[in-house]
Amino acid sequence: MIVEKLKLKNFRNYEEQEIEFDKRINIIYGNNAQGKTNILEAIYLFSLGKSNRTSKDVEMIKFGEEKGELSIDFFSKERNLSGQIFLEKGKRKKIFLNDIPVKKNSELAGTLNVVFFGPEYLSLIKEGPKKRRKNLDVMICQLSPLYLSAVSEFKKLNEQKSFLLKDERPDKTLLEVLNEKILSLSIYISKMRYEYIKKIEKIAKEIQLEISAGEEILSMSYISNRIRIDEKNVDNLSVLSEKRMVELNGREMKMRECIFGPHRDDIEFFINGNELKSFGSQGQQKTAVLVQKIAEIELFFEETGEYPVLLLDDIMSELDTKRQEFVINKIKKGQIFITSTDSEKFESLKAGKFLKIEKGRLLECTSI
Ligand SMILES: Nc1ncnc2c1ncn2[C@@H]1O[C@H](COP(=O)(O)OP(=O)(O)O)[C@@H](O)[C@H]1O
Ligand SMILES: [Mg+2]
Repeated sequence: MIVEKLKLKNFRNYEEQEIEFDKRINIIYGNNAQGKTNILEAIYLFSLGKSNRTSKDVEMIKFGEEKGELSIDFFSKERNLSGQIFLEKGKRKKIFLNDIPVKKNSELAGTLNVVFFGPEYLSLIKEGPKKRRKNLDVMICQLSPLYLSAVSEFKKLNEQKSFLLKDERPDKTLLEVLNEKILSLSIYISKMRYEYIKKIEKIAKEIQLEISAGEEILSMSYISNRIRIDEKNVDNLSVLSEKRMVELNGREMKMRECIFGPHRDDIEFFINGNELKSFGSQGQQKTAVLVQKIAEIELFFEETGEYPVLLLDDIMSELDTKRQEFVINKIKKGQIFITSTDSEKFESLKAGKFLKIEKGRLLECTSI
């Protein structure tokens, strides 16, 4: 997948800007707070119709303006495609793909696949499960529009259930109906996540062995409703989930919150059998995230036959020389966007486009 052109109008700190990109490597450089990450956010928006930074679309409209507009030309699945997003205060954003309105984000999923990697991801293993679930979902949603629909449906039903549970005497029949629907969606979501994790694990294991000179065996586990899912019990997921839901019913009524469901699930990472979150050094945790991200790129290729667009946001400055070199050597394929305050670091790449950003404008553009 290749992003050829981006046009921004009253988006973030850009008033009006058109940018053409290199097919391979794009180094977006400039001082802090000039608008480098905003470009990556603009590209990211076209993957699932949502920002990676905010859930409030209005925040992306340039301060003081009522409307914002983005358009993109890209190449995907052997076709030239174009997309447009219209942002307007007080209104829902409008998305178009080849001039056809996109009614649901699931219609967009899979057209432009991106892997985003910024400094905030380096704490993926250390922090709470929310970030890990989000990263997982963003990946699977791009690979499966059906999964995206299931996740949105689950969210809607879970909100309804949560509302109902706050009632002093919740309507039992309605609760049962909701629970039944939630159960079948939960089983589907957990199964999809488990299968995805197994695929990622297979690729990540190889990469981890490579980066650790054969010392470290990486493994991953999916925990669904506090049950560790593995090849022995995965076929039994439906029965296990239903049992768990019944067990949790009483507690949900008492606590008045939704406890059962994939919104509480987690992923665990292990190195040589030791859980990384509790036993790994910070360096090991960072490396595992790096490995994870590279594995995501490879998995996209395996599943779709195309490399996703890789968005590396200010990541090099967070890594030591060894890890920087590893990343550079590993990303030899596909289109890449790298933001950095320092462009010199990338001159060794010997090919690509250098784009200098200042105060929401493309100041200079050189190809080497
Ligand atoms: N809605 C907005 N309208 C105008 N400027 C914005 C808006 N949102 C963010 N900005 C500005 O964008 C700049 C940050 O852009 P960013 O791309 O994150 O910078 P960096 O170059 O450090 O990656 C800041 O100056 C911020 O004030
Ligand atoms: Mg930035």
